Amino acid sequence: MDNKAFTPVRITTIKADRQVSFPVFIYFKEQYLEYIQSGQSIEKEKYKKLRKQKITKFFIQDADEGKYQQFLDGVLDQVINDPNTSTEEKVELVSGQSETAVERLKDDPGNESNFDMTRKASKNLQNLIFNNPDSLNQIFGQDSEAGEVIQHSINVAVLTIKFARVCKISDEDIDYLSTAALMHDVGVMQMDKESADLFNKPKKELGPKEKTTYYEHCKGVVQLLAERPYINNKIIELIEGHEENLQGSGPLKMAKLTKPQEILSMVNAYDKKILTNKVTPAEAIKEMMIDELGNYNLDLLTKFQKFLKDEKVV
Ligand SMILES: [Fe+2]
Ligand SMILES: [Fe+2]
Repeated sequence: MDNKAFTPVRITTIKADRQVSFPVFIYFKEQYLEYIQSGQSIEKEKYKKLRKQKITKFFIQDADEGKYQQFLDGVLDQVINDPNTSTEEKVELVSGQSETAVERLKDDPGNESNFDMTRKASKNLQNLIFNNPDSLNQIFGQDSEAGEVIQHSINVAVLTIKFARVCKISDEDIDYLSTAALMHDVGVMQMDKESADLFNKPKKELGPKEKTTYYEHCKGVVQLLAERPYINNKIIELIEGHEENLQGSGPLKMAKLTKPQEILSMVNAYDKKILTNKVTPAEAIKEMMIDELGNYNLDLLTKFQKFLKDEKVV
């Protein structure tokens, strides 16, 4: 079979004991093996075993993409508003959908169906965060197998969604923010390995040349996304401004930011600090109050610090 005819999906998006309308494969010894037949489901015990073996991905045939999306929408519709489903289970599904969406953007950032999946994931994240108060803490800082950039994107999305509400940002702008947060570092995933490694280097340690290289992730991909008519301009503006600050020392030297842009940039800087400086969430906010003063409004930083306490993140 042709390798290109398969697409990875996170195993967490295929639930146990639920009939699939398409065959599901695993990749084993350089071959795609049919693991669940169309019309069948995977038993819970078998599923648990796979998870234990750290199998994180299934594969579907490209031609079944529509069926897969329908399957996932159906599961999520049922689960997300169900009071009898645990928050843990909801978190697992919505995280799986977000991870699958961002992983696909990495391969084809401008693709419409990848964008649609990202939109759906961001709407489900909002629903989850607003209706299940304990979900933020379960998602934020998860030890995800999806990779650092993807987990960072999800971290930024969940903090941004809830903090934006505290800041009384309109629902429409929160919706754009949630999608932009999931997409904001797609440019990093597009870079060659050496440049992408700069993602893990503390901002203070980046030399001028490295900074220029790293900041490229805010430019090229944004142009590509801007050409796609189905991507709203507000989403593009947010992605474009995510490394900017009020002192104008970001890649585009924009010293003026809209409130949603400032929130996204600040939350991004916060999660990056935890990641690159290898500090706890509590230490990171303390460092922010010193290092980022002037880059963001003091009242916004203070509000964010209080928010993290209220949410028991710190
Ligand atoms: Fe970035
Ligand atoms: Fe980022």
